Amino acid sequence: MTSERPSTGPSARVRRNRAIAGALAVAVVTAALAGTVWWAAKPTPNDTVAPVASASPSSSPSLAPTPQPEKPKAFFNRSARSIDDPASTWVVNNKLRPLAPIDYAPADLVQANVPGSAPMRAEAAAAMEQMFAAASAEAGLTLVVQNAYRSYATQVSLHDRLVGQLGRERARAQSAMPGYSEHQTGLTADIMAANGACTIQECFATTPEGLWLVENAWRFGYHLRYPQGATDVTGYIFEPWHYRYVGLDLAAELRATGTPTLEEFFGLPPAPDYPPGV
Ligand code: DAL
Ligand code: ZN
Repeated sequence: MTSERPSTGPSARVRRNRAIAGALAVAVVTAALAGTVWWAAKPTPNDTVAPVASASPSSSPSLAPTPQPEKPKAFFNRSARSIDDPASTWVVNNKLRPLAPIDYAPADLVQANVPGSAPMRAEAAAAMEQMFAAASAEAGLTLVVQNAYRSYATQVSLHDRLVGQLGRERARAQSAMPGYSEHQTGLTADIMAANGACTIQECFATTPEGLWLVENAWRFGYHLRYPQGATDVTGYIFEPWHYRYVGLDLAAELRATGTPTLEEFFGLPPAPDYPPGV
């Protein structure tokens, strides 16, 4: 006689099967819920996506001060603009590179709204206004334009007068021949202090105005074109008052690379003197 214990509940196999079925049910419900949540969160073509600030700079030119150019750009395209076209803000003219045409005159001269104003190209004038305002706001300095655009005809009379006063060699070391002057491009200004200290003299470099300019002009696209110790390259004596507009990018790159002259930056030959016959 077989003695059987009376059954008091489901067998072990049944219990195990029920546990597996339960776990499966939980898994299915969890997956279904997750799918619902994903579907609800999925962006649709009509969803509004918040715009992400663009990392690329605005294409419109800005005259606002740029950040410190501590490092040169990884790649600076030195061919981006012409160095031959007299209307280019990168034009390089020196004793070996006359303007072409020799009597070039800019088409967009305006009167810069600064003390002692003289005509300049519109872009250079706007940058000059920003620079003078910054000198005043940041350092309490009043800068004055002593001279800016000069036509071919004006350069003829100025140069002739200086040759008469100083002699040919000395005049040529500080005054360009007509057709060879940056002033004729409308991109250049001679800057002085409101108190007149050291106007068009080397000691301008030691005045508060001269010191501020040499540190800050690059922020506004200006470059000290005839620096100290570069006469063999530029052909001219140190002119701490003569600032040339080259645009924000190039001015910052010149500063960041510590390149003193446009000739060196663009790999041009030094231009200590005119070719024979000029
Ligand atoms: N003083 C500069 C060289 C000019 O005459 O353009
Ligand atoms: Zn000058």
